[in-house]
Amino acid sequence: DLKRQIPTGPELYGAERPNSKGFDLAHAPTLTAIDSARTPWRAHNWVARPLLASDTTGSAPQNVMNPSDHALVGESSECRLEDVEQALNDAARWSAPAQERAEILNRAADLYEAHYGELFALLHREAGKTLMDAVAELREAVDFLRYYAANIPAADPAGIFTCISPWNFPLAIFTGQIAAALAVGNGVLAKPAESTTLIAHRAVQLLHEAGVPRTALQLTPGRGREIGPLLTGDPRVSGVAFTGSTATALHIRTEMAKGLRPGAPLIAETGGLNAMIVDSTALPEQAVQAIIESAFQSAGQRCSALRCLYLQEDIADTVLDMLKGAMDCLHLGDPWNLSTDSGPVIDSRAQSGILAHISTARSEGRVMHELHPPQGGTFVAPTLIEVSGIDALKEEIFGPVLHVARFKARDLDKVIEAINGTGYGLTFGLHTRIDDRVQHVCDRIKAGNIYVNRNQIGAIVGSQPFGGEGLSGTGPKAGGPLYLSRYCAPDRQTSAE
Ligand code: SER
Repeated sequence: DLKRQIPTGPELYGAERPNSKGFDLAHAPTLTAIDSARTPWRAHNWVARPLLASDTTGSAPQNVMNPSDHALVGESSECRLEDVEQALNDAARWSAPAQERAEILNRAADLYEAHYGELFALLHREAGKTLMDAVAELREAVDFLRYYAANIPAADPAGIFTCISPWNFPLAIFTGQIAAALAVGNGVLAKPAESTTLIAHRAVQLLHEAGVPRTALQLTPGRGREIGPLLTGDPRVSGVAFTGSTATALHIRTEMAKGLRPGAPLIAETGGLNAMIVDSTALPEQAVQAIIESAFQSAGQRCSALRCLYLQEDIADTVLDMLKGAMDCLHLGDPWNLSTDSGPVIDSRAQSGILAHISTARSEGRVMHELHPPQGGTFVAPTLIEVSGIDALKEEIFGPVLHVARFKARDLDKVIEAINGTGYGLTFGLHTRIDDRVQHVCDRIKAGNIYVNRNQIGAIVGSQPFGGEGLSGTGPKAGGPLYLSRYCAPDRQTSAE
């Protein structure tokens, strides 16, 4: 019985603790307040440097550009190899008692909330995040800080953790990894994505301001290819938390193996080829809203995003007509504008890769619907591409591209087999009004996060622990009760969730 399988209560989700309230964007005075808070940062130029326990200036500064109009956002310098060596020498566990660590992490959460205007401006201008995305991102970062602070296990820390985070959640995932490692008392070397160092720099400044010692948290920005092997393979590093591509996770595992530290934990959250099944009993309006959000919110740049939609043939034309109409209502443009639903993709390299994929599909006559992108920035317009099934997708296309396949009712199990056959297992969505079918499909689909009759993005810290299986990650799930155990000394680790 599904209801019995849905866990409830603090014994499963950790200590009682309210999530961040966030902002109600339907409330006009709230929008006015947000606008006043972020306006001073409209043309600000931020400066990011490595933040190490010892002084360094890092490499020569590089300009940071806004992906939606290529305007200057600030400048950032990176760590050279000798800076990382110094950081490793200085790195130390955070020896303060658990209660003090919790208080400081909670203070950091308060500081994040107090600085929301600046953080939203940074998220719009450096990462191309819309206001809705920026609100969700800040909430998630704050929730991670408070959730891990409230659930510190009575165990020793593993030692020094390297945390390597992605550009698509430059505040939330960046903060989540660090907060988990610090909550347990580890020292951290934080390596943010190369495209979003300004946000990472501001976050680490706020964590230091809250009271995290500089030896316990150092920001080591830089090129993964140059400093990655030292940050992950050095014997002084006790564990690595990584969110990004599956290929990079496998590479990190190889580097870690060189350090002769058997058992050193690698906590990896990687990619997905996420599917949704809509059967003929689904409510079309509900399904279409869920599809639009899952495939196109954040310009499709979420590892949880929907990539392949399976429509039962009896309902396919109805859903597709409504879906195309809903796509036509999406506003693409500057993420700063309140009316924007979808901003740019992160950079021109990402844009060309996605456009090449669309162009191949167009030459094969498989583009079913597409919008017109705005001029100027690295935009990709939401696009529907027809496929025979998920096995036609060779890789995760990390953008606003939705592949659509039709299936016959009698082939449902074949569809499930094809979805499982990708080897990934991150998110999955199902729309149906038949309870037995919910049970049948959920029993068989291999995915970390399964969502029924709703969208399949935006897992909530403490309620929907997030993470995949197979090629999608190692677990334990972030924002869940077992996550911190992996940051503890080996005798306290849990090997499976
Ligand atoms: N946690 C995010 C989501 O659920 C993805 O990284 O959408």
